[in-house]
Amino acid sequence: MSELKAVVIGCGGHAQSHLRMIDKEPRLRLLGVAEIDAIRREKTQVEWQVEGFADYRLMLDACKPDFVVVATMPGHLKAIVIDCLERGLHTTVEKAPGMDSGETRSMAAVAAQSAGKAMVSFNRRYFPHILALRQMVASRGGAVHCAATYNKPLSPPMGTPTWDRIAPDPVICDAIHHVDLLRWLAGSGTRAAMPVEVYAQVHDGVEQGAHRHSALVRFDTGACGVLMSHYGVGARIQRAEVHADDFSAYLELTGALPVAEIYQVANESELVLDLQAVGGADFDETRHFVDCILADKQPWSTLDDAVHTMRLCEAIRYGHRGPLTE
Ligand SMILES: NC(=O)c1ccc[n+]([C@@H]2O[C@H](COP(=O)([O-])OP(=O)(O)OC[C@H]3O[C@@H](n4cnc5c(N)ncnc54)[C@H](O)[C@@H]3O)[C@@H](O)[C@H]2O)c1
Repeated sequence: MSELKAVVIGCGGHAQSHLRMIDKEPRLRLLGVAEIDAIRREKTQVEWQVEGFADYRLMLDACKPDFVVVATMPGHLKAIVIDCLERGLHTTVEKAPGMDSGETRSMAAVAAQSAGKAMVSFNRRYFPHILALRQMVASRGGAVHCAATYNKPLSPPMGTPTWDRIAPDPVICDAIHHVDLLRWLAGSGTRAAMPVEVYAQVHDGVEQGAHRHSALVRFDTGACGVLMSHYGVGARIQRAEVHADDFSAYLELTGALPVAEIYQVANESELVLDLQAVGGADFDETRHFVDCILADKQPWSTLDDAVHTMRLCEAIRYGHRGPLTE
């Protein structure tokens, strides 16, 4: 079995889930971690029994990895991702992929010239429950409507001036997961639907970070999508729904494991999500990226494709009303 050498840049809270995914992927071997904060670096180094580096460039020189996860905040991603891609390394880019869609485009332009592939970590696309549900929807002629809710209580420093230079506004930095999920549920196969029209209402609260959005999106597939994302409300709730002819599914995504409620007008016996058909209950973004690298295929969430999700987030944040043009 081929084995790829992996490293992680940025050892904050979310890097831990990448480290766990690398650990459970037999085709990856973790060789090093880079972190500028000494306490986080040492903790990660000890926990995962690998070499730690303060300067990620020294790690890339020393470890000669094939596979790099860049898990810094969005404001720190671009220079590091471009450096990795210019070195020809396969690179996982955390969400949001940059501070704005212009940064995503710059990274995508470098990826287009690189021997390495780039995958944006839109992890909802790789949830087995979501993949199995998409198959059910596709077999019924595709989505006619989808909706996503992404709510949180105030989560400082998100949405406050403290984060101005390291993260875009919450709907771009964080609720992007469910903006992208709308594109994914409205699309089919390896393709996410393209937004062609957006009617967004922004109704922020008075508290810093109380960003609130209700948006209607029309996709090129003919499906309609609705996003409701409100910060500074009662609880962290993440839900989605997707409907096809005579078929409806409601997804509860707040907890660690998705829960799906599925309804159709006839043949109730068919309504079981077939996780085996989409790679099994253990399938995740890391496994998909390794599959793509070894098969020389592009991942489902490329930087090029992520530009469209970023532009949709921006349209929602800035209250766009009308067609979305290039
Ligand atoms: N996919 C998800 O479900 C999910 C969940 C949480 C966070 N995230 C994303 O993950 C990213 C990281 O979030 P977090 O909560 O772990 O942030 P964090 O601030 O806890 O971690 C980022 C780390 O990167 C380090 N860093 C910055 N520049 C560096 C450099 N040049 N070299 C080495 N290390 C460097 C920082 O010191 C910090 O420890 C963000 O983009 C966030 O949006 C994704």
